[in-house]
Amino acid sequence: MMYITRRERFNAAHRLFREEWDDDRNMEVFGKCSNPNWHGHNYTLFVTVKGEVSAENGFVVNLKDLSSIIRSRVIDKVDHKNLNVEVDFIRDKLISTENVAAAIWNELEVPVRSIGAELHCIKLVETENNYVEYYGN
Ligand code: NI
Repeated sequence: MMYITRRERFNAAHRLFREEWDDDRNMEVFGKCSNPNWHGHNYTLFVTVKGEVSAENGFVVNLKDLSSIIRSRVIDKVDHKNLNVEVDFIRDKLISTENVAAAIWNELEVPVRSIGAELHCIKLVETENNYVEYYGN
């Protein structure tokens, strides 16, 4: 079994908050990410897939195909967008790095199968000090 990772990047705005809480309570729990006037992050997304190496071409998957799936299913939908209000597969959730990573997993799991691999890990880096890894459960 071989694992291969494609990196993509996107910039997006969000606000981490609960509507039923006032701004002070949101600031206490979510910190700067609860700024009522939004803010953005330069996200880095690592998509790792696994599979057998093809005897025909030496690849697990063609990275051109994997990149194309990630772009059409995720990057084109989130880049330079507000994740709370503009992104169909995320907008009704609390926009934490954890929830965004899980939503991206759900977007990619089936399409990755269509190019002959299995999704293994979504790693989403929100800042240089913070990232999450999701393995599907
Ligand atoms: Ni934030």
